[in-house]
Amino acid sequence: MTAKTYAILNYGCQMNESDAEHYAGQLQELGYKAAEDFHDADVVVVNTCCVRESAEKRILGKIGELKGVKANHPGQIVCVAGCMAQKDGEKLIKKHPQIDLLIGTAHVNGFKEILSEYLSEKGERVYNSLEVKESEFEGERIRQSGFSAWIPIMYGCNNFCTYCIVPYTRGRERSRDIESILNEIRDMHEKGFKEVTLLGQNVNSYSFEKEGETITFPILLDRVAKEVPDMRIRFTTSHPKDMSDDTLRVIAANDNICKFIHLPAQSGSSRILKVMNRKYTREWYLDRIAAIRRIVPDCAISTDLFCGFHSETEEDYQETLSLMREVGYDSAFLFKYSERPGTYAASHLEDNVPEEEKVRRLQGMIDLQNKLSEE
Ligand code: 5AD
Ligand code: SF4
Repeated sequence: MTAKTYAILNYGCQMNESDAEHYAGQLQELGYKAAEDFHDADVVVVNTCCVRESAEKRILGKIGELKGVKANHPGQIVCVAGCMAQKDGEKLIKKHPQIDLLIGTAHVNGFKEILSEYLSEKGERVYNSLEVKESEFEGERIRQSGFSAWIPIMYGCNNFCTYCIVPYTRGRERSRDIESILNEIRDMHEKGFKEVTLLGQNVNSYSFEKEGETITFPILLDRVAKEVPDMRIRFTTSHPKDMSDDTLRVIAANDNICKFIHLPAQSGSSRILKVMNRKYTREWYLDRIAAIRRIVPDCAISTDLFCGFHSETEEDYQETLSLMREVGYDSAFLFKYSERPGTYAASHLEDNVPEEEKVRRLQGMIDLQNKLSEE
């Protein structure tokens, strides 16, 4: 008998890429092999993202396509995982009956049991409680690369930026045991990996109590860097409100930590930042940039920015452009605001910048960044 096969269709952020490695690891433990083509796979996992409507639409198209694929492949199991599964649960299965299993963001490492139970016709179809499983950071995984490894150090987000769906789809912040992190990194080192990226929605608020000591992000980063001096260490994402001089000093002091910081600004206007609940001003943000330049000279800096949020005026927008010029980002991920049902903004802050205006502003940001990157 030939082995059963699986395919993973992954969308969205690096946390999803990391989760996808856990799905692959568990499927291989169950004896599945990677399929050449998802059309032929016995199990298809669609790992979803809903941070913007455009992502959601594209993924819904793919889920629709799987209806036809499954019709040609009776017995194929379609699993929808990630943030859309978390957010929409039951509703998704009702609309798309080709979905067999829905796996929310806190159930990644329970997938092996979930799938086995489903196959023995005992299990449920929807797993989207956000109750945290003890083992969520552990488990086998199949790495996409033999060079660079994702290492989740925390899950979830407590910041509730008014536009953002992530706190609802990933739940509250929880930090991983430092010993578990170090063990995984030692293991990657032994296996010949050259680079690790510490992952979290807001790595700077990492906090783990160990024997009466609070391990903060700079302490963790320093321990990791010294544990594997011949590996390159990266980390993402940093929230400007928590980007401390302590962390910058750790980066400066360790040659193997990449001199690269992703520091999402979101907007250059203090007024808009307040409406976004970002908890910092333009001045605070620029002070953090100055601290980076001072403590880690030659550090590359990238950002996320989006235009067209509730009440954004031409003046606010011009402040975003001027922030881009002032910082001179090495690269930037640029978006236009997309209202996400379920967020504070969706119910309290009208999506009142016309679409044509959002498109124009976004194009202005893209043109400017292209110019800056060239320079
Ligand atoms: N609309 C547009 N962009 C968003 N982001 C998060 N939520 C939204 C939204 N509703 C952007 C932010 C974040 C990045 C991952 O996605 O810039 O940093
Ligand atoms: Fe979303 Fe803000 Fe949390 Fe980032 S910090 S995940 S933008 S709520």
